Amino acid sequence: MSKHWTEKLFIEDSDLFRASIEARFEKTQDEIDGLVELFNENNVPRDGLILDLACGIGRIAIPLAKNGYNIIGIDISPSYIQRAIDYAETERVSDKTRFIIGDMRDVATELAKYADGFDAILNMWTSMGYWDEETDRNILKQSLTLAKPGGFFIMHTANRDSIIKRFQAKDFSIGKDGLVVLMERELDLETSRMINFWSYYRKEGEDLRFLNRMEINHRVYSLHELIEQFHVTGWEYLVSYGGFDRRPLSTDTFSMIIVSQRR
Ligand SMILES: C[S@@+](CC[C@H](N)C(=O)[O-])C[C@H]1O[C@@H](n2cnc3c(N)ncnc32)[C@H](O)[C@@H]1O
Repeated sequence: MSKHWTEKLFIEDSDLFRASIEARFEKTQDEIDGLVELFNENNVPRDGLILDLACGIGRIAIPLAKNGYNIIGIDISPSYIQRAIDYAETERVSDKTRFIIGDMRDVATELAKYADGFDAILNMWTSMGYWDEETDRNILKQSLTLAKPGGFFIMHTANRDSIIKRFQAKDFSIGKDGLVVLMERELDLETSRMINFWSYYRKEGEDLRFLNRMEINHRVYSLHELIEQFHVTGWEYLVSYGGFDRRPLSTDTFSMIIVSQRR
Protein backbone atom coordinates (compact mmCIF):
# COMPACT_ATOMS: atom_id res chain seq x y z
CA MET A 1 0.00 0.00 0.00
CA SER A 2 1.36 3.40 -0.86
CA LYS A 3 2.15 5.76 1.95
CA HIS A 4 -0.27 8.49 3.00
CA TRP A 5 0.74 11.87 1.53
CA THR A 6 1.37 13.34 5.00
CA GLU A 7 4.14 10.82 5.57
CA LYS A 8 5.87 11.76 2.33
CA LEU A 9 5.47 15.51 2.74
CA PHE A 10 6.13 15.96 6.45
CA ILE A 11 8.45 13.06 7.27
CA GLU A 12 10.25 11.58 4.26
CA ASP A 13 10.93 14.74 2.32
CA SER A 14 10.24 17.23 5.09
CA ASP A 15 12.80 19.85 4.03
CA LEU A 16 10.74 21.06 1.08
CA PHE A 17 7.61 21.88 3.04
CA ARG A 18 9.78 23.17 5.88
CA ALA A 19 10.89 25.92 3.48
CA SER A 20 7.21 26.81 3.02
CA ILE A 21 6.74 27.01 6.79
CA GLU A 22 9.84 29.22 7.13
CA ALA A 23 8.45 31.49 4.39
CA ARG A 24 5.27 31.88 6.43
CA PHE A 25 7.16 33.59 9.25
CA GLU A 26 6.31 36.88 7.50
CA LYS A 27 2.66 36.44 8.54
CA THR A 28 3.38 35.07 11.99
CA GLN A 29 3.42 38.33 13.97
CA ASP A 30 -0.18 39.15 12.96
CA GLU A 31 -1.25 35.66 14.00
CA ILE A 32 0.49 35.98 17.37
CA ASP A 33 -0.99 39.43 18.04
CA GLY A 34 -4.45 38.08 17.18
CA LEU A 35 -4.05 35.04 19.40
CA VAL A 36 -2.79 37.06 22.37
CA GLU A 37 -5.74 39.42 21.99
CA LEU A 38 -8.15 36.48 21.91
CA PHE A 39 -6.49 34.95 24.98
CA ASN A 40 -6.68 38.25 26.88
CA GLU A 41 -10.34 38.75 26.06
CA ASN A 42 -11.17 35.24 27.16
CA ASN A 43 -9.16 35.39 30.38
CA VAL A 44 -6.53 32.86 29.33
CA PRO A 45 -3.78 33.67 31.82
CA ARG A 46 -0.36 34.83 30.56
CA ASP A 47 1.24 31.79 32.14
CA GLY A 48 -1.55 29.47 30.97
CA LEU A 49 -0.95 26.10 29.35
CA ILE A 50 -1.50 25.97 25.57
CA LEU A 51 -1.46 22.96 23.27
CA ASP A 52 -0.29 23.54 19.71
CA LEU A 53 -1.72 20.62 17.78
CA ALA A 54 0.43 19.94 14.68
CA CYS A 55 2.92 22.60 15.76
CA GLY A 56 5.38 22.14 12.89
CA ILE A 57 8.68 23.90 13.61
CA GLY A 58 7.24 25.95 16.48
CA ARG A 59 6.38 28.94 14.29
CA ILE A 60 3.45 29.82 16.60
CA ALA A 61 4.50 28.05 19.80
CA ILE A 62 7.80 29.88 20.29
CA PRO A 63 6.56 33.45 19.86
CA LEU A 64 3.69 32.59 22.25
CA ALA A 65 6.21 31.26 24.79
CA LYS A 66 8.10 34.54 24.45
CA ASN A 67 4.83 36.23 25.44
CA GLY A 68 4.75 34.21 28.67
CA TYR A 69 2.53 31.21 27.81
CA ASN A 70 3.59 27.63 28.53
CA ILE A 71 3.31 25.60 25.35
CA ILE A 72 3.23 21.95 24.49
CA GLY A 73 3.62 21.30 20.79
CA ILE A 74 2.93 17.97 19.17
CA ASP A 75 3.76 17.08 15.59
CA ILE A 76 4.27 13.92 13.58
CA SER A 77 7.46 15.13 11.92
CA PRO A 78 10.65 14.31 13.86
CA SER A 79 12.67 16.87 11.89
CA TYR A 80 10.15 19.67 12.52
CA ILE A 81 10.10 18.85 16.23
CA GLN A 82 13.92 18.92 16.33
CA ARG A 83 13.86 22.31 14.60
CA ALA A 84 11.30 23.54 17.17
CA ILE A 85 13.51 22.36 20.06
CA ASP A 86 16.58 24.12 18.57
CA TYR A 87 14.57 27.25 17.84
CA ALA A 88 13.26 27.33 21.43
CA GLU A 89 16.84 27.14 22.69
CA THR A 90 17.99 30.00 20.45
CA GLU A 91 15.03 32.09 21.58
CA ARG A 92 15.67 31.13 25.23
CA VAL A 93 12.22 29.68 25.86
CA SER A 94 13.15 26.02 26.38
CA ASP A 95 11.80 26.24 29.95
CA LYS A 96 8.38 27.35 28.66
CA THR A 97 8.06 24.86 25.81
CA ARG A 98 7.87 21.13 25.36
CA PHE A 99 7.86 19.56 21.91
CA ILE A 100 6.69 16.00 21.38
CA ILE A 101 6.84 13.76 18.32
CA GLY A 102 3.37 12.27 18.13
CA ASP A 103 0.28 11.68 16.07
CA MET A 104 -2.65 13.99 16.72
CA ARG A 105 -5.01 11.13 15.85
CA ASP A 106 -3.91 9.66 19.22
CA VAL A 107 -3.49 12.93 21.02
CA ALA A 108 -5.44 11.93 24.15
CA THR A 109 -3.13 8.96 24.71
CA GLU A 110 0.00 10.90 23.78
CA LEU A 111 -0.86 13.63 26.29
CA ALA A 112 -2.87 11.60 28.83
CA LYS A 113 -1.07 13.14 31.78
CA TYR A 114 -2.28 16.61 30.74
CA ALA A 115 -5.99 15.60 30.74
CA ASP A 116 -8.19 18.58 31.70
CA GLY A 117 -5.09 20.71 31.69
CA PHE A 118 -5.04 23.03 28.69
CA ASP A 119 -6.36 26.57 28.79
CA ALA A 120 -6.45 26.58 25.01
CA ILE A 121 -5.76 24.24 22.11
CA LEU A 122 -4.58 25.62 18.78
CA ASN A 123 -4.68 24.09 15.34
CA MET A 124 -3.06 26.56 13.00
CA TRP A 125 -2.72 26.97 9.27
CA THR A 126 -5.00 24.25 7.92
CA SER A 127 -3.61 21.40 9.98
CA MET A 128 -6.69 19.18 9.92
CA GLY A 129 -8.82 17.54 7.23
CA TYR A 130 -5.90 15.37 6.17
CA TRP A 131 -7.87 12.13 6.61
CA ASP A 132 -11.64 11.64 6.64
CA GLU A 133 -14.28 13.57 8.53
CA GLU A 134 -14.63 10.86 11.17
CA THR A 135 -10.91 11.18 11.95
CA ASP A 136 -11.29 14.94 12.37
CA ARG A 137 -14.19 14.40 14.76
CA ASN A 138 -12.08 11.93 16.66
CA ILE A 139 -9.26 14.46 17.04
CA LEU A 140 -11.75 17.09 18.25
CA LYS A 141 -13.32 14.63 20.70
CA GLN A 142 -9.93 13.72 22.13
CA SER A 143 -8.97 17.38 22.35
CA LEU A 144 -12.07 18.07 24.44
CA THR A 145 -10.76 15.72 27.14
CA LEU A 146 -7.47 17.62 27.21
CA ALA A 147 -9.03 21.08 27.58
CA LYS A 148 -9.88 22.47 31.01
CA PRO A 149 -13.60 23.09 31.57
CA GLY A 150 -13.91 26.59 30.08
CA GLY A 151 -10.87 25.98 27.85
CA PHE A 152 -10.82 26.99 24.19
CA PHE A 153 -10.16 25.42 20.80
CA ILE A 154 -8.93 27.89 18.20
CA MET A 155 -8.84 26.56 14.67
CA HIS A 156 -7.27 28.49 11.82
CA THR A 157 -7.98 26.96 8.45
CA ALA A 158 -8.88 27.59 4.82
CA ASN A 159 -12.42 28.81 4.10
CA ARG A 160 -13.99 26.51 1.51
CA ASP A 161 -16.48 29.15 0.43
CA SER A 162 -13.75 31.58 -0.59
CA ILE A 163 -11.84 28.80 -2.35
CA ILE A 164 -14.92 28.08 -4.44
CA LYS A 165 -15.49 31.74 -5.23
CA ARG A 166 -11.91 32.48 -6.27
CA PHE A 167 -10.70 29.10 -7.39
CA GLN A 168 -7.19 29.30 -8.79
CA ALA A 169 -6.16 26.13 -10.56
CA LYS A 170 -2.55 27.32 -10.81
CA ASP A 171 -0.39 29.58 -8.73
CA PHE A 172 3.27 29.95 -7.84
CA SER A 173 5.55 31.40 -5.18
CA ILE A 174 9.18 32.44 -5.31
CA GLY A 175 10.97 32.31 -1.96
CA LYS A 176 13.80 34.62 -0.91
CA ASP A 177 15.96 31.51 -0.71
CA GLY A 178 15.44 30.81 -4.42
CA LEU A 179 12.88 28.07 -3.88
CA VAL A 180 10.13 28.20 -6.49
CA VAL A 181 6.87 26.36 -5.90
CA LEU A 182 4.39 25.77 -8.69
CA MET A 183 1.00 24.92 -7.19
CA GLU A 184 -1.66 23.07 -9.15
CA ARG A 185 -5.06 22.48 -7.60
CA GLU A 186 -8.16 20.45 -8.21
CA LEU A 187 -11.32 20.47 -6.17
CA ASP A 188 -13.31 17.27 -5.93
CA LEU A 189 -16.89 18.44 -5.44
CA GLU A 190 -18.13 14.98 -4.51
CA THR A 191 -15.84 14.79 -1.50
CA SER A 192 -15.02 18.49 -0.94
CA ARG A 193 -11.34 17.58 -0.99
CA MET A 194 -8.73 19.83 -2.49
CA ILE A 195 -5.97 17.96 -4.24
CA ASN A 196 -2.86 20.05 -4.61
CA PHE A 197 0.30 19.16 -6.45
CA TRP A 198 3.22 21.30 -5.40
CA SER A 199 6.26 21.13 -7.71
CA TYR A 200 9.39 22.44 -6.06
CA TYR A 201 12.23 23.97 -8.11
CA ARG A 202 15.51 25.62 -7.10
CA LYS A 203 16.42 28.80 -9.00
CA GLU A 204 19.94 28.47 -10.40
CA GLY A 205 20.83 31.57 -12.41
CA GLU A 206 18.26 31.78 -15.19
CA ASP A 207 17.35 28.09 -14.83
CA LEU A 208 15.04 26.16 -12.58
CA ARG A 209 16.23 22.81 -11.24
CA PHE A 210 13.34 20.42 -10.49
CA LEU A 211 13.46 19.00 -6.96
CA ASN A 212 10.24 17.10 -6.33
CA ARG A 213 6.47 17.03 -6.82
CA MET A 214 4.42 16.57 -3.68
CA GLU A 215 0.73 15.93 -3.12
CA ILE A 216 -1.35 17.68 -0.49
CA ASN A 217 -4.86 16.30 -0.30
CA HIS A 218 -7.25 17.64 2.29
CA ARG A 219 -10.92 18.16 3.09
CA VAL A 220 -11.86 21.80 2.79
CA TYR A 221 -14.67 22.84 5.09
CA SER A 222 -17.28 25.58 5.06
CA LEU A 223 -17.98 27.33 8.34
CA HIS A 224 -21.32 25.59 8.92
CA GLU A 225 -19.68 22.18 8.49
CA LEU A 226 -16.99 22.93 11.04
CA ILE A 227 -19.54 24.35 13.47
CA GLU A 228 -21.28 20.97 13.18
CA GLN A 229 -17.99 19.10 13.67
CA PHE A 230 -17.37 21.04 16.90
CA HIS A 231 -20.97 20.63 18.02
CA VAL A 232 -21.14 16.85 17.61
CA THR A 233 -17.85 16.39 19.42
CA GLY A 234 -19.00 18.28 22.52
CA TRP A 235 -17.46 21.71 21.90
CA GLU A 236 -19.57 24.85 22.05
CA TYR A 237 -19.03 27.07 19.03
CA LEU A 238 -18.53 30.70 20.06
CA VAL A 239 -17.46 32.86 17.15
CA SER A 240 -15.63 32.95 13.83
CA TYR A 241 -13.53 35.51 11.96
CA GLY A 242 -12.03 35.93 8.52
CA GLY A 243 -8.59 36.80 9.86
CA PHE A 244 -6.65 37.47 13.03
CA ASP A 245 -7.47 41.16 12.59
CA ARG A 246 -11.11 40.12 13.36
CA ARG A 247 -12.48 40.97 9.92
CA PRO A 248 -15.86 39.27 9.44
CA LEU A 249 -15.74 35.90 7.74
CA SER A 250 -17.12 36.14 4.20
CA THR A 251 -16.84 34.41 0.87
CA ASP A 252 -13.88 36.74 0.23
CA THR A 253 -11.78 35.82 3.26
CA PHE A 254 -9.42 32.96 2.56
CA SER A 255 -8.75 32.38 6.26
CA MET A 256 -11.27 31.09 8.72
CA ILE A 257 -10.74 31.32 12.47
CA ILE A 258 -13.14 29.42 14.67
CA VAL A 259 -13.27 29.75 18.43
CA SER A 260 -15.03 27.03 20.43
CA GLN A 261 -15.17 26.31 24.14
CA ARG A 262 -15.44 23.35 26.48
CA ARG A 263 -18.32 24.06 28.82
C1 LIG B 1 0.50 23.17 7.31
S1 LIG B 1 1.61 22.58 8.51
C2 LIG B 1 1.26 23.72 9.82
C3 LIG B 1 2.31 23.76 10.91
C4 LIG B 1 2.03 24.72 12.05
N1 LIG B 1 0.71 24.51 12.63
C5 LIG B 1 2.17 26.14 11.59
O1 LIG B 1 1.18 26.89 11.64
O2 LIG B 1 3.29 26.56 11.24
C6 LIG B 1 0.85 21.07 9.01
C7 LIG B 1 1.57 20.35 10.12
O3 LIG B 1 0.79 19.19 10.48
C8 LIG B 1 1.69 18.19 10.89
N2 LIG B 1 1.00 16.89 10.88
C9 LIG B 1 0.55 16.19 9.81
N3 LIG B 1 -0.02 15.05 10.21
C10 LIG B 1 0.06 15.02 11.57
C11 LIG B 1 -0.37 14.09 12.56
N4 LIG B 1 -0.98 12.95 12.24
N5 LIG B 1 -0.12 14.38 13.85
C12 LIG B 1 0.53 15.50 14.19
N6 LIG B 1 0.95 16.41 13.31
C13 LIG B 1 0.72 16.19 12.01
C14 LIG B 1 2.81 18.31 9.86
O4 LIG B 1 3.98 17.64 10.23
C15 LIG B 1 2.95 19.82 9.75
O5 LIG B 1 3.89 20.31 10.66
